[in-house]
Amino acid sequence: MIRSVVRGSGAALPRRIMKNADFEGMVETSDEWIVQRTGIRQRHVAADDETTASLGEGAARAALDSAGLTPADIDLIVLATSTPNNTFPATAVEIQNRLGMHHGFAFDMQAVCSGFVYAVATADLYIRGGLAKRVLVIGSETFSRILDWSDRSTCVLFGDGAGALVLEAGEGAGGVADRGVLAASLRSDGVHKDKLFVDGGPSTTGTVGHLRMEGREVFKHAVGMITDVIEATFAQAGITADDLDWFVPHQANKRIIDASAKKLGIAEQKVVVTVDLHGNTSAASVPLALSVAVADGRIKKGDLVLLEAMGGGFTWGAVLVRW
Ligand SMILES: CC(C)(COP(=O)(O)OP(=O)(O)OC[C@H]1O[C@@H](n2cnc3c(N)ncnc32)[C@H](O)[C@@H]1OP(=O)(O)O)[C@@H](O)C(=O)NCCC(=O)NCCS
Repeated sequence: MIRSVVRGSGAALPRRIMKNADFEGMVETSDEWIVQRTGIRQRHVAADDETTASLGEGAARAALDSAGLTPADIDLIVLATSTPNNTFPATAVEIQNRLGMHHGFAFDMQAVCSGFVYAVATADLYIRGGLAKRVLVIGSETFSRILDWSDRSTCVLFGDGAGALVLEAGEGAGGVADRGVLAASLRSDGVHKDKLFVDGGPSTTGTVGHLRMEGREVFKHAVGMITDVIEATFAQAGITADDLDWFVPHQANKRIIDASAKKLGIAEQKVVVTVDLHGNTSAASVPLALSVAVADGRIKKGDLVLLEAMGGGFTWGAVLVRW
């Protein structure tokens, strides 16, 4: 059978790093509060000349380099983002143009923080369905542009950045020993819209709006939703937590990551944590974490890697990949 195999990965971050202490003159908060409640120590914040498209392009080029490929080898770009450069056209098409790519096709996916997990599952279907052979899957965000910088309960949590994978059609025997995407489970439920949303949009206010969140409510649902969808993914693949080499969760909050791993019985040393470095970068958080763990030699060819995310909507999902 056809499998969607990871051929390369990469990332791009804005130049400017903002430490927790940098908030202390802006809103009533402290480094201690932020670290204790979230595990975040710093985040990157985009300058005016750094956009979702430019960061996405940077991550795409890094992933292509690591794969030993050029844009000419790609036939589809799927960009997960909730902070596009424009309402339309899709920022994926802008990235396609920036890469000098005038063949194939490109589109955006919007599932907020679950966007990258949705995009990998979608790219896998395009590959297995024969519509594409090599896909750039990108998560790129500039959440700094939609934050209310006077709201301490949200502005300290998010950051900007981008990460990307190149997925390529390969042959597999059909079992969990195959390399590539092995299982995926996606969920959404709009009843939770008001707990995490942006209070603007083209069809309502005609403005971009700002992120609004009831953090405690999101926290309350997160661990149960994450563990449910991961257990469904384990069942689909016929594996248990012990079979995993690496757990790469959405990087929103260290306490959510720790509680999810504990409930699932995933050993602490198998959990990739980068929330301290990047904050919550929404759809970019999983590919940014992947790029760190690949670059430092933790994730290697043949490793069994579980990706997971949960976010606005709510949306949530998990993907199991043999690297
Ligand atoms: C946001 C979050 C860190 C807050 O932590 P918490 O332990 O739930 O804190 P609470 O909401 O109970 O707030 C405790 C107090 O800290 C205050 N507070 C909020 N933000 C603060 C900040 N940056 N600095 C200092 N105090 C802050 C609150 O106003 C509240 O004060 P009060 O008791 O006087 O009302 C936590 O709820 C969270 O991480 N939720 C999930 C968010 C998330 O992951 N979202 C993205 C999903 S993709």
